[in-house]
Amino acid sequence: MNMRFEPSRALAGELRAPPDKSISHRAALLGAMASEPVRIENYLHAADTASTLQAVRALGALVETRKDEIVIRGTGLRDVREPGRPIDVGNAGTLMRMLPGWLAAQDGRSFTLDGDPSIRRRPVDRIVAPLSQMGAQLHASGGRFPPLTVHGARLRAISYELPVASAQVKSCILLAALAADGATTVGEPERSRDHTERMLLRAGVNVHRNGRHVTVVNVDELILDRLRVPGDPSSAAFIIAACVLVPGSRLLIGDVGVNWTRCGFLRILRRMRGIVLGDLEEETGELSPHEPVSDLDVAHGTLEATVVEPEEVPPAIDELPLVALLGCFAEGETVVRGAQELRLKESDRIAGVVEGLRGLGADIEATEDGFAVRGTGALRGGVLDARGDHRMAMMGAVAGLASREGVEVLGIEAAAVSYPRFVEDLARLAA
Ligand code: S3P
Repeated sequence: MNMRFEPSRALAGELRAPPDKSISHRAALLGAMASEPVRIENYLHAADTASTLQAVRALGALVETRKDEIVIRGTGLRDVREPGRPIDVGNAGTLMRMLPGWLAAQDGRSFTLDGDPSIRRRPVDRIVAPLSQMGAQLHASGGRFPPLTVHGARLRAISYELPVASAQVKSCILLAALAADGATTVGEPERSRDHTERMLLRAGVNVHRNGRHVTVVNVDELILDRLRVPGDPSSAAFIIAACVLVPGSRLLIGDVGVNWTRCGFLRILRRMRGIVLGDLEEETGELSPHEPVSDLDVAHGTLEATVVEPEEVPPAIDELPLVALLGCFAEGETVVRGAQELRLKESDRIAGVVEGLRGLGADIEATEDGFAVRGTGALRGGVLDARGDHRMAMMGAVAGLASREGVEVLGIEAAAVSYPRFVEDLARLAA
């Protein structure tokens, strides 16, 4: 479905951030791994997280959706049922990468995971390597891509250094580690989001962090009874960017998750002189079982260009397309480095951002590991193809609101993967 986004009047009012996608996936998976029923409040009801509920049902968990919560009665850590057919992860990369960690520990049982055409071009060799070291057998198409078959085994604890920072891969290993035969340690080159570690701590697991390394000790069971999913800073980022770019705007955005491993975009935006008031979590060095939230007060203002360095990439990974968009309006040259992982997301987000924004009149070029954009203070508008990617669709819509001539987004329905009410929320705030 195509939709035009016209230059907008000022955005005003209040919004509650939609529930966090990353944390919803984890809540459903850990809920299904627990032995006692788990209540999850504020679960995200969107395409990706519906795939996770379908997957855990196929594995033997019961899921009841009530008005204000979902309740999952899990199978326990080691008693997953073998489904008779492949598990369909749809478009959900997080599910595709995390779930095999749990399945690898199901001794003597086999599972196949598959998904949509975009999932079939996203590499899974990065989980095949550590899970094979732990003793499971896995087969990916061409050794690298879904469909992925996992033959479960009794797992060995390992120490593993991730070649690239990835919360999905780290989480996969941590889930496998729960049922291994000792303490497993995972190291990452830069710190990625730590929602899995926090939730495991909450579930009574012995998990600790030492700098870039996380260690998990195996357990018999997870003890969780209630979880609340906070608002999603990545979804909120699209509304925040619209507010910063559309003259005269001022918004209050409530319940935004401000875990420091997710606040990279807000830190970059503040450095660009964007007006975003509200407390963000600071890195403490200690692992916390909590997911902090804040209410943010955002206003339109002029922006200055910035350089985003590689270590800043993981905490802002899903919002980097917005950094490019903000860069179009900022004074000076905005550069993002060390972001080659963007090529492996729901679409090649380096190519999509550069070609998409250039088509709207931006002065932007791709580099090997990111992009460089020279700000001109404005954007003409035109047509942007979302390429089936929710974050590209939402970026196109925000670009339209801030442009001179409007933007037609090809494939706006992709936004439903993470933020089903996105278009309605924008329309309400602009009314
Ligand atoms: C996610 C981690 C990130 C992110 C994705 C969600 C997660 O991917 O891009 O949207 O929930 O763990 P990587 O861990 O592969 O960087």
